[in-house]
Amino acid sequence: MTEPLRPRAMGADLERLEAHAKVTGTAPYAWEHPVSEPTYLHPVQATVARGRVTDVDARAATALDGVLTVLTPFNAPGLARGRDAELEVLQSDEVAFRGQLVAAVVAETPETARQAADLVRVDYETRPHDVTFSADREDLYAPEVVNPDHPTDTHEGDPDAAFAVAERAVEATYTTARYHNNPLEPHTTVAVWDDDRLTLYDSTQGVHTVRAAVAGMFELDPSRVRVIAPHVGGGFGSKGTPHAHLVLAALAATRTRGRPVKFAVTRQQMFAFVGYRTPTIQRMRLGAGADGRLVSISDDVVETTARFKEFAEQTGVPTRTMYAAGHRRTTHRLAALDVGVPSWMRAPGECPGMFAPEVAMDELAEACGLDPVALRLRNEPERDPDSGLPFSSRNLVACLTEGARRFGWDRRPPLPRATLRDGWWVGTGVACSLYPVLQRPVSSASVRFRDDRCYEVGIGATDIGTGSRTALTQIAADALEVAVTDVEVRLGDSALPTATVAGGSSGTTNWGSAIVAAARRFRAECGRDPRPGDEATSTMPANPETSRLSMHAFGAQFAEVWVDAATGEPRVPRLLGVFAVGRVVNPRTARSQLMGGMTMGLSMALHEQSVLDERFGHVVNHDLAEYHISTCADAASVEAYWIDEHDPTVNPMGTKGIGEIGIVGTAAAVANAAHHATGIRVRDLPVTADALLTDP
Ligand code: MOS
Repeated sequence: MTEPLRPRAMGADLERLEAHAKVTGTAPYAWEHPVSEPTYLHPVQATVARGRVTDVDARAATALDGVLTVLTPFNAPGLARGRDAELEVLQSDEVAFRGQLVAAVVAETPETARQAADLVRVDYETRPHDVTFSADREDLYAPEVVNPDHPTDTHEGDPDAAFAVAERAVEATYTTARYHNNPLEPHTTVAVWDDDRLTLYDSTQGVHTVRAAVAGMFELDPSRVRVIAPHVGGGFGSKGTPHAHLVLAALAATRTRGRPVKFAVTRQQMFAFVGYRTPTIQRMRLGAGADGRLVSISDDVVETTARFKEFAEQTGVPTRTMYAAGHRRTTHRLAALDVGVPSWMRAPGECPGMFAPEVAMDELAEACGLDPVALRLRNEPERDPDSGLPFSSRNLVACLTEGARRFGWDRRPPLPRATLRDGWWVGTGVACSLYPVLQRPVSSASVRFRDDRCYEVGIGATDIGTGSRTALTQIAADALEVAVTDVEVRLGDSALPTATVAGGSSGTTNWGSAIVAAARRFRAECGRDPRPGDEATSTMPANPETSRLSMHAFGAQFAEVWVDAATGEPRVPRLLGVFAVGRVVNPRTARSQLMGGMTMGLSMALHEQSVLDERFGHVVNHDLAEYHISTCADAASVEAYWIDEHDPTVNPMGTKGIGEIGIVGTAAAVANAAHHATGIRVRDLPVTADALLTDP
């Protein structure tokens, strides 16, 4: 195990280093990098869900003043084939989903490009499409693995037989909706060719991920592609994997004689081709003794993928680790539809995957006549039931007990529909969170001592609004044993040492580990009194503990729900979460991350839902007016706390990751509280007024 880092700067409530630049508008986002003589791209999207483009008539578009070029499947330059079907933009006449990019206009102004795109006429040969998601489809299939490389199914004992004879049983089907990521900054790419070198200013969660994808599509050596993203206005997963728009921008820029092409995806377009979360259907069976101890757990998941490219969300994976039982099963089956490719969104797997089991546990508590907190305490496993490994640390019990104390859980009436106050049914609920500690020993970092006696740390990480620049500066300062003011972290540029994507809540773990390794090498090679120009680079070492220990962050979430007795309208006046996430590097940005996650969970519980019109195959509520995301007015009181967890095995910093765990379990806590308020069990998200107006 690598030596733990002594915390000095870590733990300090440091303000976000780029805060001033952001609030004064001087922090450049992708669109804002100054480039000379830019041109503007506006795409044309398929208006059929399946078929073939037979003709593109661009005469009216090209006749407009200021239109430079119109790219179509019939005239677009070639790209590599067979690497990634999603990125093969304009490479064939096939239409795989409605909203697909089928043409693009490049013009002197954004307005001209948009107007011209409207004038492009596309003819199609339409084929029947199928976008109907259901667990009853006969063509459901088992993928080879689920994201990223988990086994599709797991099986132990005989869960059906054990369930059949269990003293207490819960069997139910739970569904989560289709969701679109909707970071505040739309996906944006500025592409500039200089001979055979390509520069992309891109709104991305991973500059090296984009570089690899684009270099692959254009069959370029990666050294000829540079991706720059110093500031990113959120990603929520949808900027973690490259999508077709950025390839399209680079493709169009091959036709502008060196002039940059700027492409900012509109909010409406973000509902078509930059990823989303699959809807999920989970059939859960929990069997337990009369004392509530689980004997059988099964979780059978059905979800969507695109027919033209597979993505399998790992929805059943958290159930494998959360609770133990002698008989267990998880399965994943996919419906391949004529839709865009689902991909990562805000805790893929864990987020939808903890809704079903954590509501089912609430139902089991009711069936056993147990308090839901007590039921969970009773089912704490000794080891990770999935891997059989001991947990590096599992402080769920502390989260539950501390959360119950802070929330005032002991004042809760044991039975539902017990409190009617001023015309509102009032109830409270609890659910658990977990999120894995993901690490891959591939990130590198450099440390250079500058003339101004500042240590410049370079790593191709990204700060997507999380505060990673600030946290990494604190880690670097501790690793070099200097003050944070003596360190400058440079990130967001593929010219810097290779880094993993800002995803899987793993940035601080992976990048921090690389920085610690580089700093220690710097001290070993250059000493404590270095000369300007001294430099060292290192890759994050593999952590041997990962094969001996199961590493996860945990949390407990408590919700208070009010339901209008006359209208069924649900409100969540209070959310309170307590998390065990290892060392918190920066309490200010960490609290913000956890609160943000919990607010997203509230949003999932009550508001978010992409509505697919099956007749046409597109999302109809494709803007923020009709796809509601929780606002401050919805999130009245959101409190996030953490316990003082010390886990030296995860990495030298002792960090576990905080980006996504806040969203995991929140929706279950809200649904459980809605049940406690009204006696009505809602198993389908979002929890809306119509569901709460039925008889309990
Ligand atoms: Mo995050 S949804 O793992 O990019």
